[in-house]
Amino acid sequence: METSIILFISSVLFMGVVFEGINGQVNGWFNGHATFYGANQSPSSLGGACGYDNTFHAGFGTNTAAVSGVLFRGGEACGACYQVRCNYRLEPKWCLRRAVVTVTATNFCPPNNNEGWCDPPRQHFDMSMPAFLRIARQGNEGIIPVLIRRVSCRRRGGVHFTLKGESNFNMVMISNVGGSGDVKAAWIRGSKTRTWVPMHRNWGANWQSSIDLRSQNLSFKITLVDGKTLEFFNVVPSSWNFGQTFASQNQFS
Ligand SMILES: *[C@@H]1O[C@H](CO)[C@@H](O)[C@H](O)[C@H]1NC(C)=O
Repeated sequence: METSIILFISSVLFMGVVFEGINGQVNGWFNGHATFYGANQSPSSLGGACGYDNTFHAGFGTNTAAVSGVLFRGGEACGACYQVRCNYRLEPKWCLRRAVVTVTATNFCPPNNNEGWCDPPRQHFDMSMPAFLRIARQGNEGIIPVLIRRVSCRRRGGVHFTLKGESNFNMVMISNVGGSGDVKAAWIRGSKTRTWVPMHRNWGANWQSSIDLRSQNLSFKITLVDGKTLEFFNVVPSSWNFGQTFASQNQFS
């Protein structure tokens, strides 16, 4: 009994030491700041610079953030997951000490707003209010120092492909991506094409190609920023129409 209490107390102390010791790049954690946006903004209007027209549909829930330019990387960060914790050492008054929240990058926080908090080279997260209040006390001053690290994304079900183009202009929104979550390169292939055709990032999570793929089964190949590649064969049946979303059987882990 006494031994287990001592073990418990010493492990709590140890955790304290580990957490207080986190600073800068230790264990992948880096320093930044966080604000929150849109107290009155409904989650379905969180579209933004990645083009996820409905974040629930895209599988992110409300734990989303607009990230500053150095993190956004011209849209490459769309879909990436981060753990964010309030830096209690710097802000004991407003930080919830041990709380951590996982958020997905779904938008861009442009420079010259929020009093320049998103200007380069700042690493800034403008978070949804529910996510922000998971790590900071109610009544806080609206900006907190945070520690951030990349984590892999856990997604329910497969990768989602939303067909958004028209005629021979194919724009495919890729969402609900597991693993590192951020897409480095993507290819498309029709059942009559017989070869992978590279797609280009048009904006955010939207990838385009200019080949006519109507009335064909569609397959996709994706390489994530962490280098993992998966192929998604015949995700889309030949009867597809623009506007539809299809989910793959397989998923990144
Ligand atoms: C199209 O996909 C279906 C299954 O989704 C498959 O049975 C069929 O063989 C495919 N057709 C071609 C031409 O690849």
